[in-house]
Amino acid sequence: MYFKESTGFPKDFLWGSASAAYQVEGAWAEDGKKPSVWDKFVRIPGKTFKATTGDKAVDHYHMYKEDVRLMAEMGLKTYRFSIAWSRIYPDGNGQVNEKGLQFYDDLINECLKYNIVPMVTVYHWDLPQALEDQYHGWEDRRIVDDFVNYATTLFKRYGDRVKHWIILNEQNVFTGHGWMLAKHPPGKFKDMKTYYQVNHHAFMAHAKSVLALKELYPDALVGSSFAYGPAYAVSDKPEDQMACVDYEDLKSYYWMDVYAYGRYPRSAMKYLESLGVAPHFEEGDAEILKEAASKVDFMGVNYYKTCSIEYNPLDGVDSLGGENNTGKKGTAEMEGVPGMYKVPANKNLPTTDWDWTIDPMGLRFACRKITSRYDLPIVISENGLGAFDKLEDGKIHDSYRIEYLRNHIEELKKACDDGCRILAYCTWSYTDLLSWLNGYQKRYGFVYVDRDEDENSGTLKRIPKDSYYWYKKVIETNGEEL
Ligand code: NOJ
Repeated sequence: MYFKESTGFPKDFLWGSASAAYQVEGAWAEDGKKPSVWDKFVRIPGKTFKATTGDKAVDHYHMYKEDVRLMAEMGLKTYRFSIAWSRIYPDGNGQVNEKGLQFYDDLINECLKYNIVPMVTVYHWDLPQALEDQYHGWEDRRIVDDFVNYATTLFKRYGDRVKHWIILNEQNVFTGHGWMLAKHPPGKFKDMKTYYQVNHHAFMAHAKSVLALKELYPDALVGSSFAYGPAYAVSDKPEDQMACVDYEDLKSYYWMDVYAYGRYPRSAMKYLESLGVAPHFEEGDAEILKEAASKVDFMGVNYYKTCSIEYNPLDGVDSLGGENNTGKKGTAEMEGVPGMYKVPANKNLPTTDWDWTIDPMGLRFACRKITSRYDLPIVISENGLGAFDKLEDGKIHDSYRIEYLRNHIEELKKACDDGCRILAYCTWSYTDLLSWLNGYQKRYGFVYVDRDEDENSGTLKRIPKDSYYWYKKVIETNGEEL
């Protein structure tokens, strides 16, 4: 659509930036915190780049005051961060750890001191290792009660000051990488049946937490964040188009429909039933999912890239994208099941240093598709560019990041013009931070952190990059000056 005049971003638009506990905090064993599954996973040889860990990360745990002060100087409207479950409940359940609770009290209050809206992610992948040891974490239904207990502790403690809550971060990624691709804990490969059951548990944890929050704070705003990459069919051949519909049902709507409608897409469910991998429901689950969906306030979207979909007559599903351990392309999930899709590279688009397609218009697609299917407000909870940054004369001239963000914000503005209700835009990330598997070489921040792969190298000094000053202007002009 074309509009003569842009209406631009809403007046109270939340210009933000984001982080996650494991990626920034460090202090991995301080003040009563016990290990998470990530603390253990990164210690398995070969799992991460140069065996990097988040033991120290960028030491946000001790340097949060300086980080928040820099946010305030930038004029940031919202800071999205996550809470480390094993700081609050070191064993996942049982005894609560007051020192852990206190840390987030302090962080929240520090944000509020500068009128920065705290946007809290309840779960950004760092499950307490104790729950993995007790009952295999997400694989066991007991996780739902433990999760809701943890989430409710947060709501009760911080709900008077925190209005914006994201329950789960990228459920599709932590389950896909954890049970299909063996890249994240617990490191399982193609364990399809468990993968769908784990997802069902996560949906139930999300839903029951939404209900618990609304019971305590009816005015709170809540959703979960989904890693959404809209799919393009590679051609106008009907079989490519159909493959694209298959892909979206299985890889996008499978999650978003549950958050927004409280039910799985019918065709996806029928397909999983035919393979004998559909999740088991307990009595009452369907009703709870529905009720929670009616109370969700927004769809959280982490947008990085789009993908291309092509009909695959031979190999079957490559639903997780790209190469897999069989050495062949296009067989990640269902080797030998004919007639599904594959995910070829999109030759029309440039890529990042890590081969992610760069597609600003895809962000507008994402917003438009969500708006037409669900008519829900949207929080862009992540978007950003991972790159190798170079410190030159004490500065970082990251014009490539500015260009990336500018192009995405321009498309987001068009999405606002299109009528999409966008509440917030959070870049990933605020400071540089640990990139789960890629160490500290892949940098996303507005603020450079002087540290290397080696745990003891670097001063951890914060240095605002060129993009920091650019975003300050964007915020000042509410997105008019890009
Ligand atoms: C999404 C995840 O939420 C975040 O933790 C990660 O670092 C970024 N993507 C970049 O890969």
